[in-house]
Amino acid sequence: MKVADRHFRTIWLNADGRSIDIIDQRWLPHDFRIATLTTVDEVATAIRDMWVRGAPLIGVTAAYGVAIQMRSDPSERALDAAWDKLHATRPTAINLRWALDAMRSALRPLPAPERAAAAYRLAAGIADEDVMLNREIGENGLALIREIASRKAPGEPVNILTHCNAGWLATVDYGTATAPIYLAVEQGIPVHVYVDETRPRNQGAQLTAWEMAGHGVPHTLIVDNAGGHLMQRGAVDLVIVGTDRVTANGDVCNKIGTYLKALAAHDNGVPFYVALPSPTIDWTISDGMTIPIEERSADEVSLVWGKTASGEITQVRISPDTSPAGNPAFDVTPARLVTGLITERGVAKASTEGLRALFPDRAV
Ligand code: MRU
Repeated sequence: MKVADRHFRTIWLNADGRSIDIIDQRWLPHDFRIATLTTVDEVATAIRDMWVRGAPLIGVTAAYGVAIQMRSDPSERALDAAWDKLHATRPTAINLRWALDAMRSALRPLPAPERAAAAYRLAAGIADEDVMLNREIGENGLALIREIASRKAPGEPVNILTHCNAGWLATVDYGTATAPIYLAVEQGIPVHVYVDETRPRNQGAQLTAWEMAGHGVPHTLIVDNAGGHLMQRGAVDLVIVGTDRVTANGDVCNKIGTYLKALAAHDNGVPFYVALPSPTIDWTISDGMTIPIEERSADEVSLVWGKTASGEITQVRISPDTSPAGNPAFDVTPARLVTGLITERGVAKASTEGLRALFPDRAV
């Protein structure tokens, strides 16, 4: 998508054919910085410390991490070590394991001298595929928005609530939850987006709001607890969120707070959709409660990043120095609360049968 009229993806290979550049998301929305990653350790740090984040982008970044490792040591031992190191960075998003498995299973049978070149080709392929899948998710989600718009008075916007950042910054381009929104805007369908701030790291306030502003999408930033109230008042037509892992029975794991939005949507008859590319489906488990939930640093709850009046980007403490904090980063929304799963192949029912019907070739 565009940043100040220039098209950017979130990650790209540099002209040296070895290192990668990423948009360093820690500084947004206040500063647009690009970081260069040249070693597998740097790639692991960038994922763990959330310079890059969002399930699809984590997977693509890890794939490039393997490629970088293969350039310096293409042995099978180094391949396994890169898999382990990168896999240990973040536990919840299944795209990470999916991308690492895809890399390892394709590279292992190759003679060592061929692995580096093949790894860069594979990583680029995974990145391009992500863009394509998101475009298709966009088309399939657009049909839902268009249908709601057709029941409204001319010019009246479709009000969409989203949580966290499942936008282009969470993917290589377009985003998952935001892809239908960008297409709707492109096609002149009036939309308005309620952006949950998404405590503790504020991905909504810092990233989704920045994306919406950058692409002229009418939006309103709200505190996480406002969603239920707005739904009761009929101000929300549709919820669309992303996900870090969907189980084979349609349970949805996503950023902490998603479950509460799904409960509020259910209670108020508001459709609750989840947008995802198929690499986000974990076909090996059928119960969302077995997904490992990342527990992050308590500092993310007690300290908040922001920009001071003098322009300095800094952290401030918002709680007593001695109060302990807990920080589970994701929650699970049971399939029964999900209206549908917007995938690249169409909209599936959130159920074993629904997913199998769309992906008969993938189900295990
Ligand atoms: O902790 P994050 O910022 O990586 O969490 C991101 C989310 O929860 C997104 O909603 C999810 O990865 C979907 S991204 C298309």
